[in-house]
This record gives sequence, C-alpha cells and structure tokens, in this order.
Amino acid sequence: MGIHMLTGANGPFRAEEFHRGLAALVGALPGESVLDLGCGVGRTLPHLVAAVGPSGRVVGLDANERFLDLARSAAGQGVNLVRHEAAGALPFAEATFQRIVCNNVLECVAEPGPFLADCKRVLAPGGRILFGHFDFDSVVLASACLELTRDLVHGYADFKQPWMAAADGQVGRKLPGLLYGQGFAPMTVGAVLFVERSLSGGYAQGLMPDLVAVGRENGLDEKSLRDWRADLERREREDGFFFSIQWMYALCGQD
Ligand SMILES: C[S@@+](CC[C@H](N)C(=O)[O-])C[C@H]1O[C@@H](n2cnc3c(N)ncnc32)[C@H](O)[C@@H]1O
Repeated sequence: MGIHMLTGANGPFRAEEFHRGLAALVGALPGESVLDLGCGVGRTLPHLVAAVGPSGRVVGLDANERFLDLARSAAGQGVNLVRHEAAGALPFAEATFQRIVCNNVLECVAEPGPFLADCKRVLAPGGRILFGHFDFDSVVLASACLELTRDLVHGYADFKQPWMAAADGQVGRKLPGLLYGQGFAPMTVGAVLFVERSLSGGYAQGLMPDLVAVGRENGLDEKSLRDWRADLERREREDGFFFSIQWMYALCGQD
C-alpha cells in the first residue's frame, strides 16, 4: 500500500502515496461505481480507476472548470468528469455509487448538512464513503516567532480562497460530529500525523508560501515575514526544523 496512514507510522507527506492511500482506504473493488466528490485536479482519480478496473466506473465531480481541465489530463480515458456545484443536490440517482471519496472539500462547503445528506442519498446500501480533511488550524511549526507563527497558522486556517464558498480550517476535527448529525454509520474515525524535518519535498514546501501570502493579505509586515522565513531556513540548516499537519478521516457505511 505504501502509505503510512495504513501502517500508523509518522512520516512526510508524499502526494502520490497519499492519493493511492485514499483509494485503498475507501476499498474500491473491481467492477464498482465510485465517485470522487470534489476531485480537484484529479490526483486520486487514476488510483480509483486502477482499483475498479475496466468493468468499473469512476466519476469525478467538481465545481471548478479550471481544476477539471487538469483532472482530464491526470485521469486519462475512462473517467467521467462532471462540473457541478454540490450544495445539496448531486446530479445522480439515489444509491448510484458503491464508494465515494470526498477529501479536503468540506471546509469549502457553506452548508455541510444538505451536502452530507445528499452524499448519503447517492451512496448504495452496503457502500462506503470516505471523508478526509487536513486540520489546518492545528499545524505545528518550530519557530522563534511564536506570535507570528500563531497569526500565520490561524490566519491561513480562516482564509477563504477565491474558489471557496466558505473556509473552516477546523473541519477535520469536526468530521465525526457532522457525520453523526446526518445519521452516517457505522463509522471509523482516525487521524494521520505527517511530520516533516525539511522545508522541501513534503507538505511544508507548498504551505509555507501560502502562509506568507495570507499573512501579507492580512496586513503583516514584510520584514517580520522575511525574518520568520529566515528562521525556518536556519532551523533546517541546523537540523532543527519541525513541521506537522494532521489529516483526519471518517469512513462510513450506508445501511
Ligand atoms: C482542496 S481541493 C481537494 C481536491 C481533491 N479532493 C484532493 O484531495 O486533492 C477542494 C476541491 O473541492 C471543490 N469544491 C469545493 N466545494 C465544492 C462544491 N460545493 N461542489 C463541488 N466541488 C466543490 C473545489 O473546487 C476543489 O477542487
């Protein structure tokens, strides 16, 4: 399987392994119909296609046409891509899918209740749905600038990107409550901690520029942001860099 979410060990985030792990965790089988809800640029799609094989069906749904264009090249033939803003009425009949993956989407959904109820409607009896989310508000960084690090982490967690209808950087920890509220059961809930000791090659590499960009947007001054970044680089040179981010998930069935 090759992903530590399934082995329990902590390690750096590796995108390819992670998305292969999502397909493994939802347990897609040959011949099944699978929905990747909020598929984005399509990183999970090839792994779902491989799992269901030629007799299966994979549908990727997303509201963003630009992301879907990228998904089209990532996924190749055999994936049905649908542009749709999911706000309570998915364009599928009830019980259409045996498996649904919905990763890093819920934080953008303004009203999770109707969204989740409709996920349940399109899930087939005996099917399985995986909701996963990074919990951005609990990012940990070793830094000399305690207050600024807090401002950057929390500022990023609360920040609504232009393509998001809402922003909830704590949605990872809220998954069980949201899902029990909609009657999803049975449920396995877990968290995976990604730990990184380097500014390059993992999740931190992409996140650090985003934290700085949001900090700038929130009016933090350039010199403080430069000093903050320089401190992280010094820590990396001296082997003192530490970054962690948690990914929470809930795996639910449909009775
Ligand atoms: C952070 S990306 C995650 C993409 C992918 N699931 C992954 O794990 O890489 C969130 C995606 O959800 C999509 N999205 C957010 N709200 C949506 C909605 N209401 N309906 C459809 N797609 C939505 C966004 O367009 C974006 O592509």
